[in-house]
Amino acid sequence: MTVLVAGATGTVGGIVVRRLAAAGVPVRGLTRNPDAVLPSGVEKAVGDLSDASSLAAVFAGVSAVQLFMNWEDQGAVVDLAVRSGVRRIVLLSSDGTPDEALERRVRDSGLEWTILRPGEFAANKIDIWGPAIRAGGPVREAYPDVVGVPVHEADIADVAVAALTGDGHHGRTHLIRGPEALTHREQIRLIGEAVGREIEIEEVGHDQARQDLIATGFPEEVADHILHYFVEWVDAPPVPVSLEPITGRPGRTFAEWARDHAADF
Ligand SMILES: NC(=O)c1ccc[n+]([C@@H]2O[C@H](COP(=O)([O-])OP(=O)(O)OC[C@H]3O[C@@H](n4cnc5c(N)ncnc54)[C@H](OP(=O)(O)O)[C@@H]3O)[C@@H](O)[C@H]2O)c1
Repeated sequence: MTVLVAGATGTVGGIVVRRLAAAGVPVRGLTRNPDAVLPSGVEKAVGDLSDASSLAAVFAGVSAVQLFMNWEDQGAVVDLAVRSGVRRIVLLSSDGTPDEALERRVRDSGLEWTILRPGEFAANKIDIWGPAIRAGGPVREAYPDVVGVPVHEADIADVAVAALTGDGHHGRTHLIRGPEALTHREQIRLIGEAVGREIEIEEVGHDQARQDLIATGFPEEVADHILHYFVEWVDAPPVPVSLEPITGRPGRTFAEWARDHAADF
């Protein structure tokens, strides 16, 4: 029986399909792009989650599916999964802004369900700080001393693979965070170590940071969403989580993430 992974061209889904294929699990990756190239051993399925009619053939022979959140007409896709004989469903939701309607739908589906709630992806820092670091300049930061618990996308993928293929995850909601609390200043220092140069920080105000994010290409609402978390964490810093009971290994450190992504900076 096949595992279907939505978001197979994405940050987390891309690792999940590679891991499953490497483990010899028949895996199908969903993409809207007929020209997408998926890792070797991964069957490509073209379809759009927002249009359940495009997914009829996609679910054929599927025993487990991984979905992510925030697309239209979500109920239709969960219904289709149930009608198609899928037995297990894993939903990539969110720690800070969970998709509560879809989570409910998944819990009420009658399938073996697991909800994953990852917090801040370390990978966000490629888009937030990457442009300034790649340009060789200082990073302009409004919240250099705020603490985050960024998580390596490979750890999120490891939890997803465990939930898709292992036992003991049915009916559980897994909070997924990084293993250590680090200020932005410490995170930037670790990226500097990975790229081999000291990265300076230029402190700016909230409004300037917002304008900088928008100038880098973030839509206004996304810039506000990012800064909203940083403001929240000033008074209520998130606490790290050990994923070892689920994945069997300690969570990857931010230093490791930065080394893995040195080329992105
Ligand atoms: N970044 C964070 O800090 C954070 C925190 C918590 C949760 N999350 C959530 O985690 C999930 C995964 O994030 P990610 O960064 O791995 O994703 P990503 O890299 O942004 O990739 C998004 C994926 O979704 C697919 N996709 C988008 N709309 C689709 C549609 N209508 N039908 C089918 N496929 C569609 C894209 O595939 P094609 O373009 O190939 O079709 C792509 O593979 C997202 O739901 C995100 O909101 C993110």
